Amino acid sequence: MRGELTERREFIRPPQGVLCYRVVTWRVGAVEQEQWERGEAERRRLVERMQDMAVSGRKGERNECEENLNALNLNVIQNLFDFRAPAAHALTRVRGLRESVRSDGAVLGYRFGEGAMCVWLELVDERSPEEHLCAWMAANPEVEWSGQSIISQHSAQEVQAELDLLCKGAEQNEETEIENQGTGAPYSHVTVLAREAVEALQPSEGKVIVDATLGGGGHSELLLEAGANVWGIDRDPVARAAARGRLARYGERLHIVAGNFGNIRQLLGERGVQEVDGVLADIGVSSPQVDTPERGFSFRADGPLDMRMDPMQERTAADIVNGADEGELAEILWQYGEERSARAIARRIVQQRKKSPIRSTMELAKLISTVLPRKGKLHPATRSFQALRIAVNDELGELQRLLEGGYELLCRGGRMAVVTFHSLEDRAVKQFFAQVTTKELDRPEWAEPRPNPAYGAKLITRKPIRPGEQELTANARARSAKLRVIEKI
Ligand SMILES: C[S@@+](CC[C@H](N)C(=O)[O-])C[C@H]1O[C@@H](n2cnc3c(N)ncnc32)[C@H](O)[C@@H]1O
Repeated sequence: MRGELTERREFIRPPQGVLCYRVVTWRVGAVEQEQWERGEAERRRLVERMQDMAVSGRKGERNECEENLNALNLNVIQNLFDFRAPAAHALTRVRGLRESVRSDGAVLGYRFGEGAMCVWLELVDERSPEEHLCAWMAANPEVEWSGQSIISQHSAQEVQAELDLLCKGAEQNEETEIENQGTGAPYSHVTVLAREAVEALQPSEGKVIVDATLGGGGHSELLLEAGANVWGIDRDPVARAAARGRLARYGERLHIVAGNFGNIRQLLGERGVQEVDGVLADIGVSSPQVDTPERGFSFRADGPLDMRMDPMQERTAADIVNGADEGELAEILWQYGEERSARAIARRIVQQRKKSPIRSTMELAKLISTVLPRKGKLHPATRSFQALRIAVNDELGELQRLLEGGYELLCRGGRMAVVTFHSLEDRAVKQFFAQVTTKELDRPEWAEPRPNPAYGAKLITRKPIRPGEQELTANARARSAKLRVIEKI
């Protein structure tokens, strides 16, 4: 089965004893009309027999009919999600659809396909499953819905089993899915400050450490080698699949989690982990992200203006470039790229997109070059691309939430080690670490220093640790890396 990479974080465990529903619907043409009509006739026949049997009290036969009906329904669903076309997530790209399903408080989990969606619901108000379905469809009129659906009632246990199965399937499918993306390239990322970051966390047997940026698993491998149990978070399915393959030999000591590290507490809390001995983060993009033109992070080779680390996310760089107003664009380029020509570039983008949308990385890079002549080694578009990437992935917001959430998760004596690659990130880490490691606060208007209510850690690295000559010679991408470490007291 391909194309239903729904991720665990989307699932909620239904409380025991509640009645749940599975709602499946599809676009015009996703189910052949003839097949549907044949199925409908059989469904009607089975339902009528079940009603007769309920009246005559023949329970065994009634159960048999019910099983047949379920099998019939499952067959349609199975076909819907066994895709033919490679555009596995086409439907999820329909703006708003995923959002309207996700923001519906009754939804326990969902799975999207090329031409179909399947949603598990618990009824929390007086709305029926049909009413929920109507609301999602009405909110997304651009989808040509077939008007057909299969709605069935299930116990919480059955739904949980389906969602668990879906999770397992999603993990296995990641690998197939990724193979099918056709890049074929092996995952190649050189781990930066590997020994330094891992040693700072003092891993040993039985310790629980979160690698919030699993990537290809370089840091995690060293942590696992030292005997620790590792929770590896990444929002990129390509990274998760690579790490899963590389680290398979560690079995149950490694748990791979799909999601944003900004939700670190929630992601681990849902899995029963309330406290950890260490949190590691190696912030930023991985080499495979930058080096795969289809992912649209770089202008060295042409690709779609995408830049999403998580391909399930809605907003792409093209959405910002073609959709944000001029002021917002200038603000992004200035705030996240520290681009002094932010206004001129934003103006040029807006002029250009009036003629036709800007779709590719090279197109944008060339456009920026017409505003900024090249000076020195840096391409004029470098800062703008960094800014867009940060905006698309909300990198600074994510980092701030990771620092706060990761710090809360730490046990006494637990350590947090963060590697950053540019000044905006390093500033955020430095400020947060200063906030929790400063014993007393002092202000000119105060008569004397006051205790800092946020105080609770000590600095392990007074100055950031930087890569040595040898590492820099071997890996130019490490040149701006800085590692900072604190310990909770
Ligand atoms: C520099 S790479 C990590 C490399 C890894 N330490 C290794 O040695 O292989 C950063 C990784 O963090 C992931 N990432 C970045 N921001 C994230 C976020 N907010 N939530 C989850 N993962 C994120 C990226 O997808 C990428 O795979």
